[in-house]
This record gives sequence, structure tokens and C-alpha cells, in this order.
Amino acid sequence: MAPPRPPPRTTPSRALPAASTALTSHSPDETRRIGALLGDLLEPGDVVLLEGNLGAGKTVFAQGVAAGLGVEAPVTSPTFTLIHEHSGRLMFYHVDLYRIEGDAEAVDLGLEDYFYGGGVTLVEWSGRAPGVLPAEHLAIQLQPRGESERAIRLVASGRRYVALLAAFERRITGT
Ligand SMILES: Nc1ncnc2c1ncn2[C@@H]1O[C@H](COP(=O)(O)OP(=O)(O)OP(=O)(O)O)[C@@H](O)[C@H]1O
Ligand SMILES: [Mg+2]
Repeated sequence: MAPPRPPPRTTPSRALPAASTALTSHSPDETRRIGALLGDLLEPGDVVLLEGNLGAGKTVFAQGVAAGLGVEAPVTSPTFTLIHEHSGRLMFYHVDLYRIEGDAEAVDLGLEDYFYGGGVTLVEWSGRAPGVLPAEHLAIQLQPRGESERAIRLVASGRRYVALLAAFERRITGT
């Protein structure tokens, strides 16, 4: 007789703690300054996901994050090489998944080694490989509002990122 089947696996219903905030940038420099405030607060293992259409300002934001991490080398779009590694106060892994198609290709890139290493990983076009992304992260959506304005929404998933977002908001408001 066949052994009894184990009970069906259910996904844990405990939702991750979450929080969000929204702000507006009025220029590329302001977007860099906002990114730098965040970069200054990042810790080993942090993951930042950037979403938004072509030209939304993801790379501009990433340049600010790099500056906040003390990266001195120029930060350009990794659209063709997919991953740029920079050293600063922490390693900064700048990833662009625009050219990949699906999770399997992201796994081939070794993306998980970056996520679970001791540096900071920032991913542009993270929606291209949703299955490989850590459940806990800070997601940032950039949306153009005309020529030089960008709506920026930050969504924290997980305890670490809720705390990070709270610290970021204190910096932004100067409290
Ligand atoms: N407030 C703003 N914040 C950021 N970029 C802005 C802003 N206003 C205008 N821009 C312009 O928008 C463009 C943003 O380009 P960027 O390369 O950062 O976009 P991207 O989201 O990374 O695009 P891609 O998907 O091609 O990687 C730049 O030319 C920048 O000068
Ligand atoms: Mg870009």
C-alpha cells in the first residue's frame, strides 16, 4: 500500500511587514540627491529594485545611490554588460535586466550570488526576472511627469527595509 500522502504544502500566510512613501523630483540632480540619501543608509546585503520605463531615471537614481555608497568611478548604464561592479564603502553591484528574458537567464548570470553576498545590489528592470528576486527588498518606481519631473514611489518589503525606509524619510524631512 502506498504511504500516506503528506499534507499539502501551503504558502505561509504571515505577510512581510511593508511600508511605502512617495515623493517628487524636479530635476536629474534632485533625483541623484535623493538616491545619494538612500545610498548613505545602505548596509551589506541590501537589495534595491528599480522599475520604470525607458528614460524614467533609473540610472540617474543609481548614480546617486553609488555616490551615497562612496563610489568614485563613473556609473553608467549596464544595459549591454548587464552587471557593473563598483567598490565604495561597500561593493555596489549595478544590474540591468532589460536584455534578459525570464528567470532562467537571470539565474545564469549568477544574480543570486550578488543578492546574498555582502555588497549592495541595485537592479534596473527587475520585473524582467520576478522569480529570482528576494522577497525582502526596497522597490522604487519612477514615473515621468513631463520633461523634468519624476514621481518616485518607494515600497519596502520586510523588516529591514521598513526600517531603512523610515530612516530615509527622516533624512528627507530633516527630522
Ligand atoms: N527629475 C529627473 N530625474 C531623473 N532623470 C531626469 C529627470 N528629469 C529629466 N531626466 C532625464 O531623463 C533621463 C533619464 O535617463 P536614465 O538613463 O536614468 O533612464 P533609465 O530609467 O535608466 O532608462 P533605461 O530603461 O533606458 O535604462 C535622463 O536623460 C535625464 O536627464
Ligand atoms: Mg538605465
